[in-house]
Amino acid sequence: MRSILLVMIFLTTPAVADDQGQYKYREGIMQSIRGQMSALGEIMRNKVQAENTLTHARAMSDLAAILPGVFSKGSDVAKSETLPAVWEEPEKFKEATDEFITLTTEFLHAVEKDGDVSGTFRNLQKSCKSCHDKFRE
Ligand code: HEC
Repeated sequence: MRSILLVMIFLTTPAVADDQGQYKYREGIMQSIRGQMSALGEIMRNKVQAENTLTHARAMSDLAAILPGVFSKGSDVAKSETLPAVWEEPEKFKEATDEFITLTTEFLHAVEKDGDVSGTFRNLQKSCKSCHDKFRE
């Protein structure tokens, strides 16, 4: 009985709920990215201990890998600031997410080598605006 009820709930849940969920998920990913960048910013300015830099760099690289998969069609719900260009020009959007993955990987490698990471970090900072200018309201 219980499983039948669950199946019924599943079948009657409107698709819109998934779109809303996808949008919320995307927000969560973006907020995490912002959080990591803000934490790294404090480290880069030598305001806090640097012992967790590698963990943050790995997190950035992991989050960048998730990013391309959180823009499902239909998740352009009312509150979303994603521009239609994401779906209308998928090749260009792929270029932007690929670029982001590359830059987070370069930053991660620089951190792993334990050399000067400021250049690769700056590139990463610039990449936010570069994608937002094209694909975010
Ligand atoms: C490949 C494209 C892309 C890159 C790179 C990117 N963003 Fe975004 N970001 C977006 C899009 C698109 C949205 C709008 C999401 C929505 O509202 O549907 C967004 C939204 C956001 C938001 C708002 C989330 C919310 O709560 O609504 C924050 C914060 C954010 N990005 C931070 C960053 C930071 C920091 C970086 C750089 C380290 C970054 N983003 C890199 C595409 C990108």
